[in-house]
Amino acid sequence: MYQIISMCERHVPYIAALEAQVFSAPWDEASIQGELENSLALWLIAEDEGGEGKEKPVLGYVGSQSCFEDADILSVCVAPEARCRGIAEALMLELERRLRPKGVEKITLEVRASNVPAIALYSKIGYAKVGTRRNYYEKPREDALILQKSLLSEP
Ligand SMILES: CC(C)(COP(=O)(O)OP(=O)(O)OC[C@H]1O[C@@H](n2cnc3c(N)ncnc32)[C@H](O)[C@@H]1OP(=O)(O)O)[C@@H](O)C(=O)NCCC(=O)NCCS
Repeated sequence: MYQIISMCERHVPYIAALEAQVFSAPWDEASIQGELENSLALWLIAEDEGGEGKEKPVLGYVGSQSCFEDADILSVCVAPEARCRGIAEALMLELERRLRPKGVEKITLEVRASNVPAIALYSKIGYAKVGTRRNYYEKPREDALILQKSLLSEP
């Protein structure tokens, strides 16, 4: 079991380790640490029950920044051994639940055009394609799909 909580200091090295493991252009530890001081940022963590005592307390996370009615997702990741248990979906829905009262009306994200699991996740929870950024990603070079979800039509 796990709980979804806001990122704190103790999560930072585990997030950086997952970023380095999973992404070709990872967020480094200092940048993630900086998000703790950023009033526009909201990062949520799926923390393994037992928390600090666990060898790997961070099962997954979603990072976002918002400004007035617009929020952007900066990173989403679930540890390989914790995937397909609904953790990413729970993180994304909890993020929406927390952003709505701040006045956020829409959430935007980019995803690699070949990232089938992530695109399936975002489609399932109501994101729709609004554009493409040609050659947005490197290592390997690839287009980004821009996906968006309006928070106005849901409770
Ligand atoms: C994409 C990712 C975050 C999904 O995390 P997850 O916790 O395994 O996803 P969930 O278990 O919450 O899945 C929710 C839905 O997403 C879709 N999905 C997730 N993994 C999938 C897969 N491997 N293949 C197809 N669909 C998938 C399904 O629709 C699933 O719903 P279902 O269980 O009812 O079929 C995870 O695979 C990951 O960390 N990937 C590497 C990092 C990454 O690509 N991040 C996104 C960058 S934009």
